[in-house]
Amino acid sequence: MSKEALRKKVLQERMALSPEEVARKSDPIMEKIIKMKEFSQASTVMVYLDFRNEVQTGALVQQVLADGKRLVVPRTEVTQHQLLPCVLKNYPGDLQPGAWGILEPKADCVRPVKPAEINLIIVPGVAFDLCGNRLGYGGGYYDRFLLQTGPDALFIAPAFELQILPQVFPGEHDVPVHYLVTEKRLVNTGR
Ligand SMILES: Nc1ncnc2c1ncn2[C@@H]1O[C@H](COP(=O)(O)OP(=O)(O)O)[C@@H](O)[C@H]1O
Ligand SMILES: [Mg+2]
Repeated sequence: MSKEALRKKVLQERMALSPEEVARKSDPIMEKIIKMKEFSQASTVMVYLDFRNEVQTGALVQQVLADGKRLVVPRTEVTQHQLLPCVLKNYPGDLQPGAWGILEPKADCVRPVKPAEINLIIVPGVAFDLCGNRLGYGGGYYDRFLLQTGPDALFIAPAFELQILPQVFPGEHDVPVHYLVTEKRLVNTGR
């Protein structure tokens, strides 16, 4: 199977989950992340805002704010093929749909932050292998963004078990994640 066919197959499987299944599986994933010492120790946390049956991140966003940590969310700058990390003060009040309908900070709430200031990044994806290799949506946005983070930044990918596969066609520019967290397990990928 090709990389493109694999991406399509996994996205179809994920879209076949009911809203109840997505919520039921997302809860234990967010709970596991919130209990990690890497989360407790982080003061600036970047979280993707889920869309189209991605693992839901709302509970984690709320925890970041409740803990008084700095919350960062991405803005997709399509013309520059870049993710712009922005500090978010009010959730969900300061958000509006942006590229592809993904929620992002409204124009008057854009407060860019240097990638090097982010301690922990919650990374979305289509599929992963147990080494932390990641198959994205095909835009390479996170691959380019993760390169800009500091040497101690930690990358955690929430995923449903159906997104964990033996092989995801990693390339040289792909940036692996340190941890995978599913509804069943927490995997330290050794990266
Ligand atoms: N660090 C990078 N520098 C330049 N181009 C990149 C970089 N990372 C990814 N790309 C480009 O982005 C495109 C999509 O990358 P790919 O890994 O297939 O997507 P995704 O990670 O979204 O699944 C590819 O053409 C790739 O060459
Ligand atoms: Mg990639």
